[in-house]
Amino acid sequence: MALRNIVKEGDPILTKVARSVLTFDEKLAELIDDMIETMKNADGCGLAAPQVGILKRVCVIDVGDGVIELVNPVIIDQKGEQREVEGCLSIPGKYGITVRPKQVTVRAQDRHGNTFTITGEDLKARALCHEIDHLNGILFKTHVIQYVDPEE
Ligand code: NI
Repeated sequence: MALRNIVKEGDPILTKVARSVLTFDEKLAELIDDMIETMKNADGCGLAAPQVGILKRVCVIDVGDGVIELVNPVIIDQKGEQREVEGCLSIPGKYGITVRPKQVTVRAQDRHGNTFTITGEDLKARALCHEIDHLNGILFKTHVIQYVDPEE
């Protein structure tokens, strides 16, 4: 495993639509392992492959109850609304209140290509939405209704 460099806002890869993963091989496993290590090292609760310069539909999240690996994730259901503070490892120091669904259900594949569904609420729902947005070239700023000062 190795730490990968997290690209920052302004890098054009962050605004591109990532490609679907078709091959579930050792290279994919290595990417996922590296992303998990990079996310933990940066103390983040989610990371998407474009953030490490790889334009593939892969993301990882960990909101405190274990790592979830998602390949080719799609939101298949959403309920309610939440307004909470959000940030992004690619936009350091910037935080804002976003409008997100309170609950989302996502269908994805694991590193072996097996399909699963996962439902997340609150922070997990935000993380799922945020990381899937990254795969579509969308940054959280799109959803911000008010920026907040992290010092307050
Ligand atoms: Ni982000």
